[in-house]
Amino acid sequence: MKKLLITRVIAQPVLDQAAQLFDLMIRKDGSGMNEDECAVALSAYDAILPTLGDQFTAGAFQKAQAGGLRCRMLGNFGVGYNHIDAAAASAAGVIVSNTPDVLTAATADIGMTLILSTCRRASEGERMLRAGKWGGFGPKSMLGTEVSGKTLGIVGMGRIGQAVAHRGHYGFGMPVIYFNRSKKDAGLPARQVETLHDLMAEADIVVVTVPGGGPTTKLIDRAAIAAMKPSGIFVNISRGEVVDEAALIDALEAGAIAGAGLDVYEKEPYVPERLRALENCTLLPHLGSATVETRQAMGQMALDNIIAWDKGLEPPQRVN
Ligand code: GLV
Repeated sequence: MKKLLITRVIAQPVLDQAAQLFDLMIRKDGSGMNEDECAVALSAYDAILPTLGDQFTAGAFQKAQAGGLRCRMLGNFGVGYNHIDAAAASAAGVIVSNTPDVLTAATADIGMTLILSTCRRASEGERMLRAGKWGGFGPKSMLGTEVSGKTLGIVGMGRIGQAVAHRGHYGFGMPVIYFNRSKKDAGLPARQVETLHDLMAEADIVVVTVPGGGPTTKLIDRAAIAAMKPSGIFVNISRGEVVDEAALIDALEAGAIAGAGLDVYEKEPYVPERLRALENCTLLPHLGSATVETRQAMGQMALDNIIAWDKGLEPPQRVN
């Protein structure tokens, strides 16, 4: 039996199946593994089922190789795998897989949650009510931005971008525009714009859905944020690193944009005090895929890839 490490407690049926097929170790600590812990794990296990927060950096692979690398398979729990240096994994002969598709709907739903909550000032209103500060209905109190009919701008028309566009277009009658590095058919009535600047300037609501990692780091920079309308709403459901968080905070503080809905942050779980102090933001703790159904499906898919590898087959969701 091969030795498998699952780096967090995941859905019980998946753990039960893993326990039947592998010499299984489940890490009970809820926090991510640092580079050194990842290096130790790479030397000690044949396969690992890691997730966000576990730092499988180039350094981790180097350290493990220096001491004798044992691991040949990383079946990541999550579609995003920017916490794994996939090139370093390939160089070390380690296969990496991820969990696409199964979380698309849940993540797009969180995108809509952030759009609606931020535009309609829902979390701000709830904070006020819970603090006992609600003075009653007022014709001019707590006025937000109408969502229906507003122009929705998607940055990155992948699976999740398309699912947000679908919800916005068919559910809320929103004209959809999008920016994507390559020419892409959105699969619904939508217009691809030439530049990120065009997207940021034209959209009423911007939603970022690009994958994290190298080329997209700080894609949404100070200039991109400055291109937004003063009435613009910015939503990020991808990765915190994709956005210049300090520039975003500056814009929100200055009233240069109207609000932001964020599910992800540059240095999770750290969220800057300046951001937490802003009323015009909805701040969620990385809930994109957090439904019982989706998290079970993600665990199953991650394990299925490891099982395929164990049988000598090509892992179906291999990414490197
Ligand atoms: C969650 O953010 C994921 O990448 O699956």
